[in-house]
Amino acid sequence: MKIIAGSDHGGLSLKRVLIERMRGQGHEVIDAGTDSSASCDYPDYAVIVARSVAAGEAQFGLLVCGTGQGMAMAANRVPGIRAAVVCDSFTAHATREHNDANVLCLGERVVGAGLAGELLDTFLGAKFEGGRHAGRVQKLSRIGG
Ligand code: RB5
Repeated sequence: MKIIAGSDHGGLSLKRVLIERMRGQGHEVIDAGTDSSASCDYPDYAVIVARSVAAGEAQFGLLVCGTGQGMAMAANRVPGIRAAVVCDSFTAHATREHNDANVLCLGERVVGAGLAGELLDTFLGAKFEGGRHAGRVQKLSRIGG
């Protein structure tokens, strides 16, 4: 799959680990930055990743900051984006199966690299179930996202 990944300074180390993991699995991964540990603003990277996914340039987005929260708040302002903060394995697959989430947000200060790798694998391996969930996801778009 083609995946675009971004982070701020707070998520840089984990993003690098996860990009290597995905590339090792055969995914094509675009690194949208940041590539520096200098302090920066998470919305700047969230919008690059979110717009790319919304435009269909990548199938999924990965956003990492300190908590994952700011990245999700920013990404979800882009129409067509369903960004989910994930800290546990149930949510990692349920947000794909039920919400058709297309951006995974992780917090480097919340989850360790081992758990983050498993959450990423689970998210990418899960499929949207459609059915009763499809109409609910369409209602999200009608709200304005
Ligand atoms: C940066 O210090 C931190 O605020 C940011 O990475 C993120 O956690 C915001 O949601």
